[in-house]
Amino acid sequence: MEMSANQELILETNELTKKLGGKPVVKAVNMQIRRGDIYGFLGPNGAGKTTTIRMLLGLAKPTAGSIRIFGKDIRKMRLAILRKVGSLVEYPSYYGHLTATENLEAVRRLLGVPKSRIDEVLSIVRLTKEAKRPVRGFSLGMKQRLGIATALLGDPELLVLDEPTNGLDPAGIQEIRELIKSLPQTSGVTILISSHLLSEVEQMATRVGIISKGELIYEDSIHRLREQAQGRVRLGVSNPESAWRLLLSHGYPVGWENGRLTVAKADDRTVASIVARLVKQDFEVYRVEEETASLESIFLQMTGTEGSL
Ligand SMILES: Nc1ncnc2c1ncn2[C@@H]1O[C@H](COP(=O)(O)OP(=O)(O)OP(=O)(O)O)[C@@H](O)[C@H]1O
Ligand SMILES: [Mg+2]
Repeated sequence: MEMSANQELILETNELTKKLGGKPVVKAVNMQIRRGDIYGFLGPNGAGKTTTIRMLLGLAKPTAGSIRIFGKDIRKMRLAILRKVGSLVEYPSYYGHLTATENLEAVRRLLGVPKSRIDEVLSIVRLTKEAKRPVRGFSLGMKQRLGIATALLGDPELLVLDEPTNGLDPAGIQEIRELIKSLPQTSGVTILISSHLLSEVEQMATRVGIISKGELIYEDSIHRLREQAQGRVRLGVSNPESAWRLLLSHGYPVGWENGRLTVAKADDRTVASIVARLVKQDFEVYRVEEETASLESIFLQMTGTEGSL
């Protein structure tokens, strides 16, 4: 795969492995995240997402393998690297009696960033109006947005979010999704976001990594995953049997099923030339339909959880 200068690797793991209680839960994971990616890290419950993320953030020690962030080994440059990584892992904890601003102030002092940064991050996550309310009264969605604001305080180059929409209602999920989608433009940040639902990250991710039983079984652009979800094309034509014979005689990979012509994994060009050929020979083409497998069903097939949900 070609890689230009602005696609520099922000994060890279090499055979990253973690054993817990003697059992490997993350197995030789090689993951690559490029600058500007919104990387959807997907896997069913128990697949090893949180364990991987904890290692990336220096919260757990790998059993084997290594991690490079911003081109540097985190064993050597841990603190310098982690200063530029913002994270939200599981449910963040707050001081309920303090306001959003006061909670952010506590973290701001630790990071030593200017006071003005608080208003900036509150505005990014659209909590400016709620800034002076005690966090105790916040909805779960508002708390998650405050968590993202906290993660953004240090102006990170990499933002790591572990299932940030867990437990939110559809409106809350939509809000967080819009927010995350807007971040690369507003903050120039690269994002790793985990989820157990492909549909949840599908609309924002540029790349996806799929982990199943501790193994990274897929990593590519969302575009390539969509291509895999493309199925057969079905054509409704007049006189299908002779149309089928005509196309076969010209070497097209057509089948014939229930009175419809079928073309397996047809690209645009093949479909166009088949239709042109049929029309030229005076067949009528009534419809051209694509049988697409949903992305979600591909994900479920890959992770072997199909039918169990
Ligand atoms: N302390 C521990 N000791 C032993 N096994 C553990 C421990 N913590 C986690 N595990 C196991 O490691 C595996 C991976 O767990 P992990 O939390 O990383 O999965 P996950 O992908 O984040 O799942 P979820 O979607 O439920 O958050 C699971 O099988 C889990 O049971
Ligand atoms: Mg988890």
